Amino acid sequence: MKTRVYSPTPTNLRRLAAALQRGELVAIPTETVYGLAAPALDAKACQAIFKAKGRPTRDPLIVHVLDLAHAEQLAEFNEAARKLARQFWPGPLTLVLPKKPCVPGIVTADRATVAIRAPAHPLARQILRLAGVPLAAPSANLFGYVSPTSAAHVLDGLGGEIPHVLDGGPCDVGVESTILDLTNPSRPKILRPGAITVGSLENAMGRKVVQVARGKGRAKKSAGLLAPGMLPQHYSPRTTLLIKRSWTTLPKDIGGIFLRKPPGRVTGNSYWLSERSALAEIARNLYQVLRQADQKKHRQIWIEALPDDVGGLAAAINDRLRRAAAKR
Ligand code: TXA
Ligand code: MG
Repeated sequence: MKTRVYSPTPTNLRRLAAALQRGELVAIPTETVYGLAAPALDAKACQAIFKAKGRPTRDPLIVHVLDLAHAEQLAEFNEAARKLARQFWPGPLTLVLPKKPCVPGIVTADRATVAIRAPAHPLARQILRLAGVPLAAPSANLFGYVSPTSAAHVLDGLGGEIPHVLDGGPCDVGVESTILDLTNPSRPKILRPGAITVGSLENAMGRKVVQVARGKGRAKKSAGLLAPGMLPQHYSPRTTLLIKRSWTTLPKDIGGIFLRKPPGRVTGNSYWLSERSALAEIARNLYQVLRQADQKKHRQIWIEALPDDVGGLAAAINDRLRRAAAKR
């Protein structure tokens, strides 16, 4: 299959919305990462998402909508969920809620719940408006690999597998949305940290949020049941990745990723995530730099650890780093 890349002209947006209505897959930019979209109520089109990504069908999809009113057609909202949607949508917050019968089982992996969010990216919103249907969209990468934050990343993994890619430039946030399970509103659970922080969710709801342990032990055993995004190894480059506190000399056959641009002369095997270690910049560059280093065939990639206690986006960045570095 030939993959066509579209610039965001009004004509192209109309074309891509029409393609979606016909059930064709379209990779679209969102503020977090690029998503591989299909009409969420079209089971056959959604099936094609799994095939293109090599994604197991036990890993459910996120449904994208314009706003709360559209979301309420697909999920049973409670007051806490409405409150959060009003405060944080459009934006990088995904809510897990009981699903309504219209949502096909392929989208939710036959669960009783559906994950739903209203993206903030203006092009994602225009496509949603023009297509006039909710869009199921996981990240537009091969299953298990680093998520895409540009149209070129989408082509790297899915070129030849999907017909259409909308090029909206690099993604602003750079890591996937926060996923909050509000199925039981008296016990909200974070399934995946993201740009909407635990602190801001707790403030908005006036109650504590449970953070589901991940990576080892319990999370690993229950990963198939709870949230496949919690798989201990996910978002990974092919090259072995090690998280290090620091290093004095970088061996020639190692790619070294610094949190901030190192002072002085830098070697060709050095990379950095930011100019001055601002968290938003680190998150925005993370997947781009991981992909870049992964292409160079280093024996290993070392990456500097970010302290956990700096707040904000640090939890999301560290979560992705730990999973990218987890042993296969
Ligand atoms: O920022 C994002 O969320 C991006 C953009 C495209 O919106 N999407 C994204 O999708 O990261 P994906 O497939 O890479 O991650 C979706 C995660 C999966 O790990 C899945 O397990 C979880 O959402 N999920 C989906 N439905 C769920 C449900 N009913 N219950 C629990 N987790 C669910
Ligand atoms: Mg993904």
